[in-house]
Order: sequence, then C-alpha cells, then structure tokens
Amino acid sequence: MLDFIERTDSATAESATGLGQIDRTGGRVAVDEKRMINARADVNQLLPMKYRWAWEKYLAACNNHWMPTEVSMQADIALWKSADGLTDDERRMIKRNLGFFAASESLVANNIVLAIYRHLTNPECRQYLLRQSFEEAIHTHTFQYIVESLGLNEGELFNMYREVPSITDKAAWALAYTQSLEDPAFRTGTEETDRALLRDLVAFYVVFEGMWFYTGFAQILSLGRRGKMVGIAEQYQYILRDESLHLNFGVDVINQIKVENPHLWTDAFQEEVRGMIRGGAELEAAYGRDTMPRGMLGLNSGQCESYMRFIANRRCAQLGLEAVFAPTENPFPWMSEAMDLGKEKNFFETRVIEYQNGGALSWD
Ligand SMILES: [Fe+2]
Ligand SMILES: [Fe+2]
Repeated sequence: MLDFIERTDSATAESATGLGQIDRTGGRVAVDEKRMINARADVNQLLPMKYRWAWEKYLAACNNHWMPTEVSMQADIALWKSADGLTDDERRMIKRNLGFFAASESLVANNIVLAIYRHLTNPECRQYLLRQSFEEAIHTHTFQYIVESLGLNEGELFNMYREVPSITDKAAWALAYTQSLEDPAFRTGTEETDRALLRDLVAFYVVFEGMWFYTGFAQILSLGRRGKMVGIAEQYQYILRDESLHLNFGVDVINQIKVENPHLWTDAFQEEVRGMIRGGAELEAAYGRDTMPRGMLGLNSGQCESYMRFIANRRCAQLGLEAVFAPTENPFPWMSEAMDLGKEKNFFETRVIEYQNGGALSWD
C-alpha cells in the first residue's frame, strides 16, 4: 500500500513538471483546475487561460524587446579613456556596479530555470518565465558588450561577486534560497516546501530584482543625468523597464499563491518575509557605503540607504505586509521619470529606438 502511495505521489510530481507519462484517458483541462503550485491540470496546455495578468506581462515584455548592441558606446568609450573625465570615486562606483550586475543576471537566470520553473505549475506563468529567461540572457549580454567596448578587465568584473565582500554577501544571501530548492528530490506540496518556494520568490523577485537592482539603476542613471556614461545609462533604462515587469510579475505570483493557499501566509511567515526585506535593505546599505565611500555629485551612500528604505516599504505594501521602516521620502524622485520610456526621445536624449515593430517582416 505504501509503495502504491509513493508511486502515485511521484506520478503527480512528474505530471507537475509536464514531463510525466501522457494521460491518454483523462478529461480536458477546465480553467478552474489550474493552480499556481501543486496543480493536477496538465501544464502543457496554455489554453484555456486562467491568469490573464501573466499573459499580459508576456505580451508587454515582447513589445519591450531591445538588444544592447543597438546602443552606441562611442561617448562612453571617449569618456572612460579620457584622463580627467571621471573621478576615481566615479570609476570605482561604475566598476563595482557593473561587477554586481554582471554575475547577478546569471544568478537570477539560473534561479528561474533551475529552481522556480519546475515548481510553478501554470503554463501562462511558464510562458512569461521563458520570456524573462531570454531577457536575463540579454542583460548578461549587455555586460559582455560593455566590457568589450570599454576594454575593461573581464576577470576583475565577472569575479567581483566572489571577490568584493559587499557583493559576495548579497549573492550568497540569495543563493541560499536557490540551494534550498536544489535537491532533485525537492517537491512542493507540503507547508514546509511550499514556503521554501515562496521564500525563493521573495528573495529573487522582491529583494534581488525589486530592491538591489533599483539602487544599482539609480547609481548609473544619476551619472547619465549629468551626461556621463550615457550609453550604459541608456542600456540601464531598458534593463530597468524589463526589471520592473519582472518585479511586478513576481509580486503577482506571490499574491496569487497566497490567495490559493491562505494557510501558508501565517503571521509568523509574514514576519519572516518582512525580516528578509529588512535584511536585504541592510545588505544594500553596506554595498552603498562600499561602492561610494565618499559620495559624489548628486549621489551618496546615505541617499542610497534612504532610497532602499523607501523601496523596501513599497515592496511590503505590494505584498500586503506592514512597512519595515519608518516612512521615508524618495530621495530620487527622478527615477520614476527614468522609467517612463514612452516618449519621443529617451531620457538621455541619445537616440530614438522603437521596438514596437511586430509586422515588420514581409514575405513577398
Ligand atoms: Fe535582468
Ligand atoms: Fe530580471
């Protein structure tokens, strides 16, 4: 009997990945059988669609397509090679910022493909994850292109996540959550394992992409506003647009899992998630002090810490949690303008790129 139960459980786990035996006699999928996690409905059938918000984000992401190599790096190369165009503090901040993002894009991509994908049992969400994975590849490509354009030391940049403690601390914090799902025998379906998946979603979508990336964007976009490294700043604008969708998708996923599994979202677990967000903000404040020990025109580590507290409180509100910090003013109100790419010329007045080009192919 035990043997039978174990085999049945493992068959359910396999069907949740979409790689199990084909059920030749089962009925067709009904919308109300679809679930975010632990679904019994066939995950290989996109339609009938249940979560319209996931599909809408997939469409929006496709409309935002861009490639880093389409952004000119000429002004950045001239400035980087000039003797007095940038201060030593600005160079330190730029290199550490690039070093943080260079490996982080791969950590995020690996977490999607190797940890999250197999446990989200909904085809609409998987469709978005496939698109997001490609975007993370484009973001990693961006850092390869920047290294090549500026002639940076690739070993120094791509090893910063191992060699610069304030960056290593963040990567190690997030990786622990991926590692908790890494065991091939890991299966959702118990309170303990469902919460492990939720923790990983919070760590990557809310803290990594939704908090840490934002101070990184603010650093580079602040330089761009002063006419420095405008090519990289333009690329960061496109990354920021992608990442704001990644964040919002992650928030929707977590909130939908909560709706379907209210027993997971206990007071104790809410406190734990608030602790993760608070801890993430503290790691970021340490990174800010390390990357900007003296501060520079228009930007210093104190402002970055305030910005992180402002963002942390917003993320709590998005998840229906109480704020973790006292109310904080946004020290970078221009960041919301930087996210608005729907205008004729972009923020840094470099050049106009239109990617809304569906239908451009012609076969005659
Ligand atoms: Fe990314
Ligand atoms: Fe992302």
